[in-house]
Amino acid sequence: MLVTLKQIIALAEEKSFCIPAFNVYNMESVMGVIYAAEELKAPVILQVYPRLINQGTADYLAPIVLEAAKRASVPVCFHLDHGPTEIEVQRSLYLGATGIMIDGSTHSYEENVALTRHIVELCEALNIGCEGEIGHVGSVNDDVMDELTDPDEAADFAKKTGVTCLAVLVGNAHGHYKKPPKIDIDRIKAIREKSGGVPLVLHGGSGIPDETVREAIKAGIRKMNIGTDVCCAFSDSALASLNDPKRSLAIDLFMKPVIESIKELALSKIRLTGAEGKA
Ligand code: 13P
Repeated sequence: MLVTLKQIIALAEEKSFCIPAFNVYNMESVMGVIYAAEELKAPVILQVYPRLINQGTADYLAPIVLEAAKRASVPVCFHLDHGPTEIEVQRSLYLGATGIMIDGSTHSYEENVALTRHIVELCEALNIGCEGEIGHVGSVNDDVMDELTDPDEAADFAKKTGVTCLAVLVGNAHGHYKKPPKIDIDRIKAIREKSGGVPLVLHGGSGIPDETVREAIKAGIRKMNIGTDVCCAFSDSALASLNDPKRSLAIDLFMKPVIESIKELALSKIRLTGAEGKA
């Protein structure tokens, strides 16, 4: 069933676990994640980057995500990831998104508050929920990382904007880590405490050691994003098939192991985040 960000985060909060949020790019990635979610009776978020919204890919992808969500027996939210401006937000809503992230983390603090509050109001009018970001989560390739999220600032941000959930910078980054990341668990706890319990989001979920993920969830992470791992599951499997002389050329058959590979990845992340059986 199709649910909103507000509903799915409320479920995570109520049952103290974390929603796995998978970045999807095409029909096969949607199928892999949904098959896993159905098998483990888990709520999941399917999210898309703004590039897909702006370049027209989502015109095809969004109906697939919506159909998958409506057919599924588990709660599924269709979410915009890292929306930079209101344009991408409006486009996503037009395509049927039931969750929005507005990422004003590269702006000044005041600008981030104003932009996020504006999009929160828009989302409130639709009753769907909005994710914000405080402390810019960069890439593993960045030479310098911004300062980690300040708990007092995060609390002030959450209060002023009214976000449904809040992405924070706590030692995480997008992409495959070159060495295991040091996630600041005490900082997660402090942000959570000072903000009066705002649900927190961990971006850069690919490659964070399992034990660290579990500790982060205990400390207050309620949504974890997984992008690069989805891409690797896809390309590693496709590459293996390409190297198999007995592979089928029919695209649907060629894609079967690829879908299976994404499903396996999704199964492992659903178990890790504690989402299994929470639908
Ligand atoms: P990874 O690609 O590192 O898993 O990060 C995904 C993400 O945080 C999307 O917003």
